[in-house]
Amino acid sequence: MRAVMCRELGEPESLVVEQLPTAPCSAHQVRVHIWASGLNYVDALFVQGKYQIRPQLPFIPGSEIAGEITEIGEQVQGFNVGDRVFASIGLGGFADEAVLSPSQIVPIPDRLSYAQAATMTQSYATAWYSLTQRTQLAPEEWVVVLGAAGGVGLAMIDVARAHGAKVIAVASTSEKLRLCIERGAHGVIDSSTEDLKTRVRELTGGGADIVVDPVGGPLAESALRSLGNNGRYLVIGFASGVIPSLPANQILLRNRQVIGVDWGAWAMGNPADNATLLGEVIAAIEEGAITPVEPQSYALAEAGTALRDLLDRRLVGKACLSS
Ligand SMILES: NC(=O)c1ccc[n+]([C@@H]2O[C@H](COP(=O)([O-])OP(=O)(O)OC[C@H]3O[C@@H](n4cnc5c(N)ncnc54)[C@H](OP(=O)(O)O)[C@@H]3O)[C@@H](O)[C@H]2O)c1
Repeated sequence: MRAVMCRELGEPESLVVEQLPTAPCSAHQVRVHIWASGLNYVDALFVQGKYQIRPQLPFIPGSEIAGEITEIGEQVQGFNVGDRVFASIGLGGFADEAVLSPSQIVPIPDRLSYAQAATMTQSYATAWYSLTQRTQLAPEEWVVVLGAAGGVGLAMIDVARAHGAKVIAVASTSEKLRLCIERGAHGVIDSSTEDLKTRVRELTGGGADIVVDPVGGPLAESALRSLGNNGRYLVIGFASGVIPSLPANQILLRNRQVIGVDWGAWAMGNPADNATLLGEVIAAIEEGAITPVEPQSYALAEAGTALRDLLDRRLVGKACLSS
């Protein structure tokens, strides 16, 4: 098998593709030929050694895959060779095959390509968990999405729209904002030229109901101040690299709330509940209520370039590695 190997923590350019021995597939496992591996911000953090979990070196990064079953252990039931499946696997995704347990794999909805299936679990599960469990989004509410043309951001737009909300997308370039409009945002704000609080107040006629923040950094305080009465601020991540300090008086004012979201930890601690949540996401995809974006594709050997593009904010929308 071919795999992208991280032999030392550091910059993504140090990643190399290696030929590895084929792993055995036991009676209780399936072998999946990986056609697409999803690229996520967290993969870059793992490679840089900046994630809260540091895997033992060497390791194969990549936490989301989609592919085709090529071998089935004799004790495995419910799957066949040739089935299209996707999985969240923690690590090992930047490769052309993986040996997995049947409990890890899920059939790909007919509507989705391998690339879409490989890039949707983390972002859509986070969006669904945020907007239906950490807070309950109501129809007609105004949702402001920061980093809206990123993976989490685009999923938030889609899920919020599916629940009848009105979405304001915030991003840093006109190309990113165009994609947000194509994906259904009702209003857009260019974070490189416009004042966030002023524009949100104008667009909503007073203030937003929810802010979704996967970015952190200097926009955070302005976004908090853009919330109206009973507004909720969802802390999702810090793609800017800066953890913001939010002034407590701005939380008190207008009875606002700041809510943390840690889908990964919740999913690991509550696998049955997470399976139910993923089932809700898949049902919404099958009904056509939500549609993950078609990602741009890089070759396995371009993993370093792809992660660099992500870290340097050049990516517009999602990306995957194809084998
Ligand atoms: N809490 C959870 O459960 C959970 C789950 C999944 C992901 N996350 C976290 O959410 C964050 C976003 O993930 P993602 O997959 O959406 O990432 P992504 O696809 O790379 O998008 C991040 C966005 O952040 C913006 N950004 C602003 N400053 C940046 C900088 N210095 N470097 C890179 N991006 C910057 C960029 O948009 P502009 O250029 O338009 O500003 C970019 O589109 C990450 O921190 C990730 O770890 C959290």
